[in-house]
Amino acid sequence: MRYYTNVKDLGDLNAAVKEALEVKKNRYAYKQLGENKTCLLVFFNSSLRTRLSTQKAAMNLGMNTMVLDVNQGAWKLETERGVVMDGDKSEHLLEAVPVMAQYCDIIGVRAFAQFENKTDDYSEKILNQFIQHSGKPVFSMEAATCHPLQAFADLITIEEHKKKARPKVVLSWAPHPRALPQAVPNSFADFMNEADVEFVITQPKGYELAEQFVRGATVEYDQDKAFEGADFIYAKNWSAYQDPHYGEILSKDMNWTVNTEKMALTNNAFFMHCLPVRRNMIVTDDVIESPQSLVIPEAANREISAQVVIKRMLESL
Ligand code: CP
Repeated sequence: MRYYTNVKDLGDLNAAVKEALEVKKNRYAYKQLGENKTCLLVFFNSSLRTRLSTQKAAMNLGMNTMVLDVNQGAWKLETERGVVMDGDKSEHLLEAVPVMAQYCDIIGVRAFAQFENKTDDYSEKILNQFIQHSGKPVFSMEAATCHPLQAFADLITIEEHKKKARPKVVLSWAPHPRALPQAVPNSFADFMNEADVEFVITQPKGYELAEQFVRGATVEYDQDKAFEGADFIYAKNWSAYQDPHYGEILSKDMNWTVNTEKMALTNNAFFMHCLPVRRNMIVTDDVIESPQSLVIPEAANREISAQVVIKRMLESL
């Protein structure tokens, strides 16, 4: 594997999940693969889980890891070609990326949507500069449009907990005080549309995701109806994708918060969220603390999804 930016890069999804479950049983079995190899993790945005789980995954594979927080201690980076650099940005990404590549064998990048220009965000301007100019395998640690390490971990978690061959999985919008990117719901939809599940997206009008991610999913605007018979509820906030409201908050309707009454409509569903989560905005304390909450197993599986991706990259070096 040379690049990991979306579900297609995994190839056969069943095989990828099987590999993940094998890695999970013996996560130190491939320690020789990463000997004398270095994984560089570049963060343009904050992180708790991705930072720790990806470092751990690389270390499980015997790699050295280096972490660069671009906005804390590095030179401020210009990303636009052609700009007269007379402002506060001292270095261009076009030099910084090939320089970073001198010191490592594999690069992970986190660069969120900036909400300044939808076309720039959806063309993955920053991630693609790493792909084009590093000459190294590159994986997304959440880019502008996708968070494929999270969605892979979510799929592994569903596979581990499902009680029927084809569970009903519901992705539900929920309220949040800040405008959040669509990367997590996009990737979750990207994966669920390829998995053997009945997949439903529920959201208020105006929060429709991009068609390339929704594909054949059922879209249901009545959250209660969507929850009926669900085996997994995946809650997440996202800002508007559709023009002319890209990146805007259209609603903070607390009727969409996942609570005990709503979970009672389901088939004793498991509750999922990628974290970090705003309690009593996205989900009530009772639901996230209930035995049906999978938020910690999901976070644990981030180590496994990252390890499968880095392992495949090491195998292709
Ligand atoms: N879920 C997730 O990516 O968490 P972090 O933002 O803390 O890395």
